[in-house]
Parts: sequence; C-alpha cells; structure tokens
Amino acid sequence: MRSVSVSSSRAACAAAFVLRASAGYQPLPLGELVAAPSAMAMHQLREESVVKIGSIGKGNVGGALTRLWQQAGHDVRAGGRDDSVADVAAHGDVVLLAVGAEAVEDVLQAAGPLDGKVLIDATNDIDAKFGSLAARVAELAPGAKVVKAFNATFAPVFDAAAQLDPPAHLVFCGDDEGAKKTVAGLISDIGMAPIDVGGLDQAANVEAFARMNISVAYGQGRGPQVYRFDTPQS
Ligand SMILES: NC(=O)c1ccc[n+]([C@@H]2O[C@H](COP(=O)([O-])OP(=O)(O)OC[C@H]3O[C@@H](n4cnc5c(N)ncnc54)[C@H](OP(=O)(O)O)[C@@H]3O)[C@@H](O)[C@H]2O)c1
Repeated sequence: MRSVSVSSSRAACAAAFVLRASAGYQPLPLGELVAAPSAMAMHQLREESVVKIGSIGKGNVGGALTRLWQQAGHDVRAGGRDDSVADVAAHGDVVLLAVGAEAVEDVLQAAGPLDGKVLIDATNDIDAKFGSLAARVAELAPGAKVVKAFNATFAPVFDAAAQLDPPAHLVFCGDDEGAKKTVAGLISDIGMAPIDVGGLDQAANVEAFARMNISVAYGQGRGPQVYRFDTPQS
C-alpha cells in the first residue's frame, strides 16, 4: 500500500494542469503504444516484491524517486557527488541514472561494470547533442539492461502522481522484456501508468518527446502535467 503525502492544494494544483485527451486525439509517433497494465497486474508480473535500487543522483529526480520507492517498500540507496558511485551502483539490482547529461560518462565509469543489472536511464539530453543519449548509456554500460524511463515527465509529477485520477502516463522503452516488466512495476509503484513504446531504438524519440514536453510545460507555461495518452481500446 503506497502512502505518499501530498498536500491537497498541491494535488489540486497538479490536477488542474491535466489536459485530458480529447475525442480527436491522435497518438504521437512513438511506436506502438501498449495498454498500461494496472499497478496490481504489474505486481503480479514481477517476481520480486522488494527491489534493491541504487540511485546515481539524489537531486530532483533521484531524490523524489528514492523517497517514493522507499515508501513503496523498496530498498533504495541514493548518492551524489560526495558519495561513492560504485557503492551506490553495487547496492542495486536496478540502478537509476539521474544525473545531468554532462555527468553521464563520468558516473558510468565510476560505477564500474553493471553487467546483468537493470539500468534505468532517466537523463535528458536537453541540448540534443547525442542523437540518443540512451544509446550512449548502453555503449558505456554494455552488460546492463538499459531502459529509458522517468525522463519524459517532471519531478513534481512523481510526487503528485499518487493523487491523480486517472493516473498520469509515463512513456518508457528498452530491449529486455524482463527489465521492462521490472521498470513498469516501479512506474506503477509511484502511481503512474507505464506506456511501453518499444525497444531502445525508440529512446531518441522519447528524448525528443521529453524536450518537447519541457518546452510545452514550461516554455508555454502549461505545467508539468501536460500530457496524457488515451488508453488503447482492446
Ligand atoms: N528535474 C526534472 O523534473 C527532470 C525530470 C526528468 C528527467 N530529468 C533529467 O534527470 C537528470 C537529473 O535531473 P535533476 O533535476 O534530478 O538534476 P539535479 O537536481 O541537479 O540532480 C543531479 C544529481 O546528480 C548528481 N551528480 C552530478 N554529477 C555527479 C557525479 N559526477 N557523480 C555523482 N553524482 C553526480 C548530483 O550530486 P549532488 O547531490 O552532490 O549535487 C545530484 O544529486 C537530468 O538528466 C535531467 O535532465 C529531470
């Protein structure tokens, strides 16, 4: 049972930002959208109930997700510049990468081999320098199962997510189905609805979508809850 404490005024404020999909909504070209399973269904899909997670970065994203995952019962250790990145990475079967794009290379070098671990890439390539930052992450951590997730929305949404009905969506992608199930569960655990947009070859689209989302949410002042997808009809 999740217990996320968000003030009602804050939740109402976040909810006010929600733009519900209109009848004329057309899916974004992010590959085939897969219906978001319920949080309960995702718990059943995952074999493990307590996930050991190391968060490289404890700022807006790493800090919020660490707190929310701990509240969901997971075993999370987070670290920043004053901590041992290797120790943080070693703690997790799942490693969250939550640093700025400019620090990605350094922290992955400091992390050491991440073979067999699920590596959640939450980073954003704000200046579009990389083509696909997730592809670079996968190059730097060749043994890891990279899943691009948590980058295409905003830290305030993570905190408000448990209060939003219908839940806010979160796009994610990756090549390893088992890793994606784990990450979909971790998305559900904070109260968001996971939207699987395909393999890691979709990461450049997810990153571009995140840049667009930043410009719409903050450039146009429409707020961090600006996107929702219709749930596909089966
Ligand atoms: N802010 C959002 O709403 C949001 C949403 C989705 C994705 N993102 C993306 O997620 C990433 C993190 O964003 P953020 O807003 O959380 O940034 P942030 O608040 O500035 O936090 C960055 C974290 O990275 C750590 N860090 C930086 N360089 C490091 C190094 N060399 N070794 C170890 N730790 C290092 C920092 O350590 P210290 O604690 O020591 O400073 C800090 O904890 C970015 O790529 C951003 O584009 C942001």
